[in-house]
Amino acid sequence: MEFKNVMLEKEGNLAIVTINRPKALNALNSETLKELNMVIDTIENDEEVLAVILTGSGEKAFIAGADISEMKDLGVIEGRKFGALGNKVFRKLETLEKPVIAAVNGFALGGGCELSMACDMRLASTKAKFGQPEVTLGITPGFGGTQRLARIVGMGIAKELIYTANIIKAEEAYRIGLVNKVVEPEQLLDEAKKLANKIASNAPIAVSLCKQAINRGMQVDMDTAINIEAEVFGECFSTEDQKDAMVAFVEKRKLEGFKNR
Ligand code: CAA
Repeated sequence: MEFKNVMLEKEGNLAIVTINRPKALNALNSETLKELNMVIDTIENDEEVLAVILTGSGEKAFIAGADISEMKDLGVIEGRKFGALGNKVFRKLETLEKPVIAAVNGFALGGGCELSMACDMRLASTKAKFGQPEVTLGITPGFGGTQRLARIVGMGIAKELIYTANIIKAEEAYRIGLVNKVVEPEQLLDEAKKLANKIASNAPIAVSLCKQAINRGMQVDMDTAINIEAEVFGECFSTEDQKDAMVAFVEKRKLEGFKNR
């Protein structure tokens, strides 16, 4: 499938998704969000894909936010609709049954920072910059920023970043735990692929269930969370991958690879 603003490439078991509106610094308009929605559906249904990398086109930006030229004339109903569209797509990505790595190559502002936070983890180039500048535009973050930033970096730092609209460099994002690693720009995609391939080399159903357990568990009390883990742990014993891996271990041989069954 060909899209105007989003590229989907496959490399072995990886899907590489690139938001591709470099002239607008990859800003997210409705059209791009709808395309991203379709790309996520495609990835979900592609059994070959075991891990996903999300990045932005060009050298300057990951994504410079939701599209301000589209938002400027919206009324209340349209504003809600635009927010709901972004949230629907981001939540679909967050709950996709495959791990997603954001490779943040430049500005990740507003909706861009929010999209990176809907991914499982973030790698940043030394040129990356993060921020939630919405209050400078008379709005709140609208694609989950008030919720996910606080969950990732804690409430105090999230409130400081959101109230001040400060834009921080990659090293600071690393220091506060917003990104997992900072690398040179020319190494970013390779590092992301290395990480994605490492994840993809493990039992895919187990990885997927880990994602589900962590995501669902973070929203509930500890007793319910532990029950979620017990549930997914039990489910693993229905897979061939669990049997194959444990038999191979006991027989002291190397497993050739997982079947994803
Ligand atoms: N929406 C629409 N267009 C955008 C954009 C955005 N978020 N960000 C950049 N662009 C466009 C610019 O209008 C410009 O277009 P033209 O060439 O047609 O004039 C082009 O991208 C290049 O941008 P600049 O000339 O501004 O580049 P710069 O290097 O001088 O500045 C920047 C870079 C600091 C990132 C600056 O572009 C900027 O501040 N962008 C807006 C960042 C922002 O406020 N993002 C949050 C949006 S609100 C949001 O995301 C709400 C939400 O939570 C859902």
